[in-house]
Amino acid sequence: MAILKIARMGHPVLLAEAEPVADPTAPEIRELIRDMHDTLADAAGAGLAAPQVHVSKRLILFSAPPERSGEGESVPVTVLVNPHFEPLGPEMELGWEGCLSIPGLRAAVPRYAAIRYCGLDPEGRPVEREASGFHARVVQHEIDHLDGILYPMRMTDFSLMGFEPEWQRYLLDRRPSE
Ligand code: NI
Repeated sequence: MAILKIARMGHPVLLAEAEPVADPTAPEIRELIRDMHDTLADAAGAGLAAPQVHVSKRLILFSAPPERSGEGESVPVTVLVNPHFEPLGPEMELGWEGCLSIPGLRAAVPRYAAIRYCGLDPEGRPVEREASGFHARVVQHEIDHLDGILYPMRMTDFSLMGFEPEWQRYLLDRRPSE
């Protein structure tokens, strides 16, 4: 078990375009996936992209835990290699996000409401799924990390950003609206 150090906003690895993974089954990628599982569990986050652990490769882990999924489906921790997504329509939703690379803050971020995503699983098999709600949101957030994009770069209303205690007290009940 290895818990990796998480890069924080300001580190250049978070702004770089990550490289595709040539072989998801390569030993060093298997080890990276294991360590990212450990790191994500330790940090109790919803998702983690390889650049966040200083590895500039196109690999993400994400989950949609029941308490975050609202009316949407919950998803266990899922690994996706070389992922892509396309929106299933123009509709955007504002929703609350945090990021392990921006500790202590929460903000409302616009994302596509429904997407289709694809990539490879850790065995190199193709995966294709449709997602909505928090599931769609976390996949878009993690894929952004592979293109050097952090959630503040997607924000449209900075009044909907705060430190966690203040967010909990003043912002959480202010439902982010379109
Ligand atoms: Ni993040």
